[in-house]
Amino acid sequence: MASTRRDFFRNALGLSALALAANAYGSEKNLRDDVEETKLIMKDRRSAFNMREYAAPAISNIRVGYIGMGNRGFASMKRLAQFEGVEIKAIADCYEYPIDRARQWLKSVDYPAPDEYFRDENSWRELIERDDLDLIYVTTPQYLHAEMASAVMEAGKHAACEVPLGYTLADCWKLVETSERTKKYCGILENCCFDFFESLTINMALRGALGELVYGEGAYIHYFPAETIFEEPMPPLSKKGGYYRFAVGALNKGNRYPTHGFGPVCQAMRINAGDKPNFLTSVETDDFSTGHVFEEILARGSEYHKQFAGASFTGNMNTSLVRTEKGKVIKIQYDRVSPRPYSRIHMLSGTQGFVQKYPEPARIYLEHDRPLDEEEMKEIEKEYSPELIQFLAENAVKFGGHGGMDFICDYQLIDSLHNGLPLNISVYEGATWSAVTPLSLWSVTHGSQPIEFPDFTGGSWATNKPFDLSLRGGGTTKVTPREPKE
Ligand SMILES: NC(=O)c1ccc[n+]([C@@H]2O[C@H](COP(=O)([O-])OP(=O)(O)OC[C@H]3O[C@@H](n4cnc5c(N)ncnc54)[C@H](O)[C@@H]3O)[C@@H](O)[C@H]2O)c1
Repeated sequence: MASTRRDFFRNALGLSALALAANAYGSEKNLRDDVEETKLIMKDRRSAFNMREYAAPAISNIRVGYIGMGNRGFASMKRLAQFEGVEIKAIADCYEYPIDRARQWLKSVDYPAPDEYFRDENSWRELIERDDLDLIYVTTPQYLHAEMASAVMEAGKHAACEVPLGYTLADCWKLVETSERTKKYCGILENCCFDFFESLTINMALRGALGELVYGEGAYIHYFPAETIFEEPMPPLSKKGGYYRFAVGALNKGNRYPTHGFGPVCQAMRINAGDKPNFLTSVETDDFSTGHVFEEILARGSEYHKQFAGASFTGNMNTSLVRTEKGKVIKIQYDRVSPRPYSRIHMLSGTQGFVQKYPEPARIYLEHDRPLDEEEMKEIEKEYSPELIQFLAENAVKFGGHGGMDFICDYQLIDSLHNGLPLNISVYEGATWSAVTPLSLWSVTHGSQPIEFPDFTGGSWATNKPFDLSLRGGGTTKVTPREPKE
């Protein structure tokens, strides 16, 4: 029906929060329509302003707000509370219990209490309108990111947003356009770009140690039993939303969580900085796991489970291929439901070398069939471990978060703002990596036909500088541990 189509698209651009959320994971047809209509509207768009090279004015004391005090928001807030030149002024959630956990922790380390917003699912709007915030972390479930991060920028603050940035192509474009128009950053918290092996091998690739990179693979293969995916949230679901995080990753076709695998490979292969993705094609197996387990869950489940009855579930394995302007290929996989070991693959294949992280142990080959031994690995680390990572390694282990990469991710963002440096990962990367979700859904539901990949940089990909893991003249931000009192 044409009116439904128009309504969806209007919602996507106007972003009426939970209406968009409902559509974003509810209807395959809406998601496909979004891809087609957005592609037409944005065809041949040129960039209004290049956010990748833009350095916003330095901020010596960064006043921070959080929307979403769940696992990621709470962990990040604890890290930032230990940064000098950062002040956590306000936190929001749609429930009080995550706020209370933050409140208790902050009290235990004698941190000045931030203002709290938790009346309902719209309370975050009051937080973003405050005139004493510089940066707002968006750490809510993924289908709310685009809505919230756009509103943050419209309200005159920089946004730091969890992965993925958006679920639809309209989401991705909206974030790019809003960022360019408001000159506010929309950073994506893609921590995997800062993991030790990834950053080492990205640096090797960018410095030519693997020759010309020709092919790469990334993935998000992370087993969650269907019982976990459809576990009823506590407290019980209300109209407040926010509890579909795992279920969202199992509904609809396509790669539902692309950025952890695709992001680091794109950085190594200079995507948006000398090369760009031209088209994507995607194939997907049927679902052999979720559907029939869900039937059993539904039979003994509650009201909560009924909303997923009749849903289309993601196949066990989605495989997408991206071909680039310079004739390279990247493979990205997604499987959350098969009982197999965790993997982001992170494989880079060049004319003079090959690296692969998973299955661990991670290996580097500079001769075609012999991995580097322990001594040679140490030499390589000495030579190629990036300046930023060497500088932060000790603190990364101390302050933690996925082995330290979360700390590094936060640090480089905060340090960029302190020193007036362009963001290390711009809104264009966030949009490009997140766009795999709608594009792969479109391809899978069109017999795996290729679909053109949008150029979110509006042409600046040809001249943008690659990912920079040096200190870039920064590194001035200090961190001081805060230990909870006994
Ligand atoms: N980078 C990573 O390694 C990584 C790891 C896990 C999750 N994530 C991403 O982080 C995000 C959050 O994941 P999580 O594990 O913290 O989820 P979570 O469910 O623990 O936390 C989300 C929080 O958002 C709150 N929320 C929901 N709707 C809200 C609204 N309208 N207003 C205010 N608060 C609202 C929820 O109540 C909850 O406390 C997701 O998008 C996920 O994709 C990233």
